[in-house]
Amino acid sequence: MSAQNQIRRITAPQITDRKGGDPIVCLTAYDAPTAAILDEHCDLILVGDSVGMVVHGLTTTVGVTLDMMILHGQAVMRGAHRALVVVDLPFGSYEDSVETAFKNASRVMMETGCQAIKIESGSYAAETVRYLVERGIPVMSHVGLRPQSMNVLGGFRARGRTQAVEDEIIANAIAAAQAGSFAVVVEGTSVEIAEKVTKAVDIPTIGIGASSGCDGQILVTPDMLGLFDRVPKFVKKYGQMGDLIEKAVSEYAADVKSRNFPFDENTYTFKK
Ligand code: KIV
Repeated sequence: MSAQNQIRRITAPQITDRKGGDPIVCLTAYDAPTAAILDEHCDLILVGDSVGMVVHGLTTTVGVTLDMMILHGQAVMRGAHRALVVVDLPFGSYEDSVETAFKNASRVMMETGCQAIKIESGSYAAETVRYLVERGIPVMSHVGLRPQSMNVLGGFRARGRTQAVEDEIIANAIAAAQAGSFAVVVEGTSVEIAEKVTKAVDIPTIGIGASSGCDGQILVTPDMLGLFDRVPKFVKKYGQMGDLIEKAVSEYAADVKSRNFPFDENTYTFKK
């Protein structure tokens, strides 16, 4: 296939151009078949470090490694051919120096083929964003509730209850935008703060538990598909995947136990 015949993916600058326009549709994915289904409907697919919790059964994202992100990033890139694919840099892979951040971000891009990375952005992060963008790595930032910092923040609680924290969230978003981020995720904050951030920056805001005041929305896909009983309260369940799997598996187990193999008629027979 020539380069011209390949389906062109949505690019990071195209997402930036959507500021204030049509809402940007985003979801997370961690494997090829799910990514293939999301691809037609999503502008941006995030290989989130939420993979640690929703796929690997960890209680936080802190234990997620770079190798895990690369493996899942590769799978998603095999399934998605249209959406912009962004891979999260996990905890410990970018915070200590801009050089470490570049080494790990470039490894993620080279080994997965993804088009951008995401980092959780405290005030220290602007320098890292600028360093990566200047060297060819599009960066999506992430402010508000930053799950990788949950041990400092005291848990997965919505943020911005005091004026000081509200100011910090807005300042972090402005710094991330000025440093060259192509978009910023705003997680777990109030409608007012999400709207203020959206007004304050000239890049799209992608909300999660942060209201329709943002330029786009993202959810953790297994949460919105109903794989789990308990999900954050802002999540609408668009399906009941947990119930579906439970019903299918219990029917299958009953069939096997009663030697009722409806698939016997399609089993191989060899003429000798
Ligand atoms: O890891 C993730 O899935 C995320 C989204 C919640 C934005 O960062």
